[in-house]
Amino acid sequence: MLSLRTVQWKEGKVIMVNQRKLPHELVFAEFDEVTQVANAIRTMVVRGAPAIGAAAALGLALAARRSRALTRDELLLDLRRAEKLLEETRPTAVNLTWALTRILSKAESYTGSVEGLKKAVLEEALTITDEDLSVNKQIVEHGSLLIEDGDVVLTHCNAGVLATVGYGTAQGVILQAHRQGKNIKVYPTCTAPLFQGARITMFELMREGVEAYLIADTAAGHVIRNQGVTKVLVGADRILGDGTTYNKIGTYQLAVLAARHGVPFYVVAPTSTVDMITKREAVVIEERPSTEVTRIGDISIAPRGAKAYNPAFDETPPELITAIVTEKGVIEPPFRQNLEKMMSGRPTGGEMDS
Ligand code: MRU
Repeated sequence: MLSLRTVQWKEGKVIMVNQRKLPHELVFAEFDEVTQVANAIRTMVVRGAPAIGAAAALGLALAARRSRALTRDELLLDLRRAEKLLEETRPTAVNLTWALTRILSKAESYTGSVEGLKKAVLEEALTITDEDLSVNKQIVEHGSLLIEDGDVVLTHCNAGVLATVGYGTAQGVILQAHRQGKNIKVYPTCTAPLFQGARITMFELMREGVEAYLIADTAAGHVIRNQGVTKVLVGADRILGDGTTYNKIGTYQLAVLAARHGVPFYVVAPTSTVDMITKREAVVIEERPSTEVTRIGDISIAPRGAKAYNPAFDETPPELITAIVTEKGVIEPPFRQNLEKMMSGRPTGGEMDS
């Protein structure tokens, strides 16, 4: 079992698995400045919505620790500057904003000393990272109940241990079902252009001995149609109040294919990914450098001067989603009513509207 912490705080530093080095090296990188953490999020040393939420939280704790502020107001100013820097790194994953807002609102209501405020910021950041572990543990328990012996699962990108502080979400469900002794077969997509599926999902599946066959993204239709796929499981970077889901580019086409072939399509994510406030029109889909498409690593694969369009995420409409799995249970349509109930703490699961 891959029982490491992707993101952690150790002796005044942030330690993170350097995911750019996977699968060939499993190494950790150390950070002691918030600017370094922001850069690590932007360049995807750390990636996956819950992991970047935790990284940003600890980044804010670093900003507090390094601040020379003499008053509470000066420290709050430094924290707001750090918040802005971190927030701009990756706009689609709502966990980032969620973690930063949570810490800033705690900081703003704190009335004690500068040192006390620094401590409070660190405590909240550590709580966020610890909670991610316990929440994901619950998610994989709920989600694994959906997986049956003999299932053939297709997954996209990496929503595993390394996309979170630990345990994972969609991929965590797959790993948990395997640990429970269920006989499953997995088809992870490579996930061009950055190959999180090939590099990271495949790394996690192979370490745990899950029967897995990596496929090109372009093979998904053929595989769903001909290889007996029984379920598609993906993570999410943002889920709106009506269930509209933003996830790695390529998710939408998988949802369309799944619907075409009557294959259940599950979105698996913590409630920190649920955004009941933002409207569709206001969601920013991150666009990444065109060189991620025209090159693979250092090798150019397109004619010199080729232009490229590189959206990092896409939008899957709720009608293509069979159910959403969170730490609070499995939610079926109608998503608007059921997400509202779940987020307001009203009963979930079997008591959902249908
Ligand atoms: O660009 P990435 O690698 O950060 O994208 C990751 C995804 O799209 C994941 O599916 C999502 O963040 C959920 S991770 C539990």
